[in-house]
Amino acid sequence: MKDNKSLIEIKNLKMYFPIKRGLINKRIDYVKAVDDVSFEIKKGETLGLVGESGCGKTTTGRTIIKLYESTDGQIIYNGVDITRFNQSKMTPYRRKMQMIFQDPYASLDPRMTVGDIIGESIDIHKLMGGKERTERIQYLLERVGLNSEHANRYPHEFSGGQRQRIGIARALAVEPEFIIADEPISALDVSIQAQVVNMLEELQDDLGLTYLFIAHDLSMVKHISTRVGVMYLGKMVELAESNELYKKPLHPYTQALLSAIPIPDPDQSEAKERIVLEGEIPSPINPPSGCRFRNRCKYATAKCAEQEPELKDIGGGHKVACHLYDK
Ligand SMILES: Nc1ncnc2c1ncn2[C@@H]1O[C@H](COP(=O)(O)OP(=O)(O)OP(=O)(O)O)[C@@H](O)[C@H]1O
Ligand code: SF4
Ligand SMILES: [Mg+2]
Repeated sequence: MKDNKSLIEIKNLKMYFPIKRGLINKRIDYVKAVDDVSFEIKKGETLGLVGESGCGKTTTGRTIIKLYESTDGQIIYNGVDITRFNQSKMTPYRRKMQMIFQDPYASLDPRMTVGDIIGESIDIHKLMGGKERTERIQYLLERVGLNSEHANRYPHEFSGGQRQRIGIARALAVEPEFIIADEPISALDVSIQAQVVNMLEELQDDLGLTYLFIAHDLSMVKHISTRVGVMYLGKMVELAESNELYKKPLHPYTQALLSAIPIPDPDQSEAKERIVLEGEIPSPINPPSGCRFRNRCKYATAKCAEQEPELKDIGGGHKVACHLYDK
């Protein structure tokens, strides 16, 4: 159930990866994968996170659950600042926060049975053993639309969609509160994508889960997201309620992303102008000054090169980082 409390609050999060070169491994620069990003995820909501490849979506997710040690900023989970928690202090939080991965082929160990894949985190967190563990695994398999007998089989015996269901069962095994789904449907056939999204929604309603749902394409997050954040080159450039963002995209980058989504109705399709983004995505090692989108933006002015636009609420929780909306 949605309430207004935040489960996750991210404040000025930075994740810089050092680049080392030469014989003495001298650090010469940083990849600024996530560069001063702030947002919150309310309990029971789904925050969609979109943007082109390399904009920092996965790094944001992995830094939130502390698979990476953040360079700067704060990660607050249910009111507790976990940013600098060590391994042992993180243990209870590791259970509360789980991840579902893009590639259901690479993310499941081919030498383990499905039962052991799902049971592994139950064992790590010493939640239960024996008959109780077996029954829990069987329950989880059925919960994600598989068969309890599948526990004794190996991942290669399943289709992509079924493997993703196994990945979801694994994430659910330890009764998490928060799930980061990192492009969970991108590798699946279009016909199966909707089934997996629907299942994730049902699970959310039944179990009161909170999701961060990552995708590179806005059309994939539209249905499932309460709010959507758009990232560009390590920055959050727009954040709004899902319907609002689709109806009234403000940032020129969001407008371009939306214009690339095909419309099934040919009459409407003609009316829609397709915005083609020119220019390369700059390097996150040495991003442009001011607005990072400026070399691809048709509205760019001198101010855009000089001053970085801040992510500001322009009303009703619709936030945008663009000088076009400066007062
Ligand atoms: N472990 C790492 N070490 C160094 N650089 C990294 C590391 N992980 C990611 N990067 C770099 O950080 C930037 C952001 O990468 P990230 O994987 O977060 O992007 P993404 O938005 O998830 O992209 P995709 O849609 O391709 O999954 C990229 O330039 C990437 O090369
Ligand atoms: S700040 Fe300037 S360059 Fe950046 S998106 Fe807005 S108009 Fe374009
Ligand atoms: Mg990624």
